[in-house]
Amino acid sequence: MIIRENQTLGKLNTFGIDALARYYVELSSTEQMKEFLDLPEYRAVQKLVLGGGSNLLFTKPVLDCVVLKNNILGISKVKEDKDFVYIRSGAGENWHHFVMHCIENNYAGLENLSLIPGNVGAGPMQNIGAYGVELKDVFHELEALNLADLKTELFNSDDCRFGYRESVFKKEARNKYIITAVTFRLNKTPRFNTSYGAINQELEAMGVKELSIAAISRAVCNIRRSKLPDPAIIGNAGSFFKNPEVEEQKFVALQMQFPSIVGYPLENKKVKLAAGWLIEQCGWKGKTFGDAGVHDKQALVLVNHGKATGKEIYDLSQRILDSVKEKFGVELEREVNII
Ligand code: EPU
Repeated sequence: MIIRENQTLGKLNTFGIDALARYYVELSSTEQMKEFLDLPEYRAVQKLVLGGGSNLLFTKPVLDCVVLKNNILGISKVKEDKDFVYIRSGAGENWHHFVMHCIENNYAGLENLSLIPGNVGAGPMQNIGAYGVELKDVFHELEALNLADLKTELFNSDDCRFGYRESVFKKEARNKYIITAVTFRLNKTPRFNTSYGAINQELEAMGVKELSIAAISRAVCNIRRSKLPDPAIIGNAGSFFKNPEVEEQKFVALQMQFPSIVGYPLENKKVKLAAGWLIEQCGWKGKTFGDAGVHDKQALVLVNHGKATGKEIYDLSQRILDSVKEKFGVELEREVNII
């Protein structure tokens, strides 16, 4: 266990923001994590757990805390029954690597979530989702270390209180636990989910005759690559904002004024609006301000073209928020964690 001081985090967050961590330590097992957290000299220091660094924005040049890089690896089958296999992954595994492992072994359910950046441990934090599937649909349970007593606790799906890009770990349990492992309940017989229109279109363009989880995964990868910037090339953290929910009445009123507005009816008499559309209508798509910018193919994604600071990206997000509020009377909420 090596504890470093003044570690630069530029390569450890997908936005590529060059913040400095006062202390930094990489931990590759729960035991190591406990051992570190038990050290008296760091007990009072604030902790920031870093996984793949794909859903956060550092807005300060120096983080006066200890950054714990969660490197717990290992994928194993814990049990199976007639219909399901239960696959456990260390929180530090790369998400896409884990998805590929499951597809290669014919464990179905994660294919629509292919190519999402980040690590497995961050998945439940914000209930990652894409192309008609959310993590909660295939979640079984997770193990998390309670920072107060250093004991491992089990969380089932109800305990996690999953919502749209939400969980208890972004609310009451925020900064109180470190997720160390996640177990998924995957189907032995696939149930294909191609409800998201673009998947069918892509499968057709690919000339796929027989549907398979591998084919869906390839289709999802193709769609993502065509719309979303690769963080290895252009710094970004995926969707910067959530798609906002408005009352049906409000949606109808907006539709009268803006007939091409994009919205998806929900069960609770609400409508989820495509934030990308709202932002594009305000004229932000493809705009750059220094090195901070809005992606030219998906207005929901803010990008760092090189040396943008976190503050510059944050300020841009605030201007976008204000303009959407002014034009549509709709309040956007950031999806990315602001640190
Ligand atoms: N749109 C525009 N202009 C844009 C972007 C989008 O008009 O610049 C409109 C289009 O009409 C499009 C609709 O918005 O049909 C929806 O766009 P898209 O299919 O790209 O999905 P999204 O709602 O913008 C969400 C997730 C993504 C996920 C995709 C696919 C959120 C905040 N984002 O984006 O998740 O990949 O659906 O399921 O829910 C992420 O969370 O980081 C992420 C990338």
